Amino acid sequence: MTALLEVVGLSRRFPVGGGALHALDDVGFRLHAGGSIGIIGESGSGKSTLATILARLDDPQEGGIVLDGSRDIAGVSARAFGKDPARRAIQLVFQTAGDALNPAFTVAQNIAIGLGTLRLDAATLERVRKVATEVDLGHDLLDRRPHQLSGGQQARVGIARALISKPRLLILDEPTAALDVSVQATILRLIDRLRRERGLTLAFVSHDLEVVRLMCDSVLVLYLGRVVEIGAVADILAAPSHPYTRALVAASPGDGRGTFRLAGDTASPIGASRTQCLLSTRCPFADERCRSERPALHGKDGRLVACHHADAVAASLDDAPGNAVR
Ligand SMILES: Nc1ncnc2c1ncn2[C@@H]1O[C@H](COP(=O)(O)OP(=O)(O)OP(=O)(O)O)[C@@H](O)[C@H]1O
Ligand SMILES: [Mg+2]
Repeated sequence: MTALLEVVGLSRRFPVGGGALHALDDVGFRLHAGGSIGIIGESGSGKSTLATILARLDDPQEGGIVLDGSRDIAGVSARAFGKDPARRAIQLVFQTAGDALNPAFTVAQNIAIGLGTLRLDAATLERVRKVATEVDLGHDLLDRRPHQLSGGQQARVGIARALISKPRLLILDEPTAALDVSVQATILRLIDRLRRERGLTLAFVSHDLEVVRLMCDSVLVLYLGRVVEIGAVADILAAPSHPYTRALVAASPGDGRGTFRLAGDTASPIGASRTQCLLSTRCPFADERCRSERPALHGKDGRLVACHHADAVAASLDDAPGNAVR
């Protein structure tokens, strides 16, 4: 089956103080039409950088982003992509809805920007109203300014703006992170309904494994810009094979398989070492090999892990009661 999106070897470095910050390093994955991938990792792991590059609002230094198995859009500059016919197929819902809306424009105009226009002629206004209805946004709000809306309403505006151009791939960057818990659930249900009704393909950024469990069928785990584990959500939750994923799963409420913690400091992403596992500063499984040889992603059937001790990590889940590894 041809993937809607195939990402290969994506790298993005930011120049900082004479060095290079490796925000993304050799990131790749496949996403089938109708599928949903969760992108998870702690703050600074590169989630927003990846989301922004996938939406072609930023350029990678290396790598490919192949659409429909035929067209590599990674080489089209972010600037040129704005006018590309594929632009409308891929839309991003930004991390903080409120900040991403333009305070000078009305809600209706903020939604119409998704079509590349601020002019609300009859046809555009009709489309704005239609998509507002779809995201349960009252039409009485369309003439207001974004700051007059609640956080949940702003999130709906951000989603409406992304949907108005009828994208096939919707990238959501922590769409509910800034919202109250009760509102979060409503917005997640909305996204799930829209996904089903429109047959959308999703790339869903989150730092919350529970949300990914609910919304996604596969998951990609990022640590300091690198993919450490990838595969079906159910498989990874059942048997996390990377110590970092293992720690995420253990920290997630409802995981009754004992404690598992990482200790020590996170390695610096600046001038990040290419000759060691970046988790080796915090990992109870780390040995000399981890400190001298960067583990490659390996595995089969789309279930990949970058750890020299993946088998031991997965096996340690079966340890005696409490299975505490520290
Ligand atoms: N424009 C930039 N210039 C320099 N460094 C940047 C830039 N954008 C991001 N970074 C750095 O790249 C790394 C990844 O940032 P990114 O925003 O992608 O992380 P994130 O996973 O989205 O984090 P969060 O969960 O806090 O949103 C961080 O170390 C960040 O400081
Ligand atoms: Mg982010």
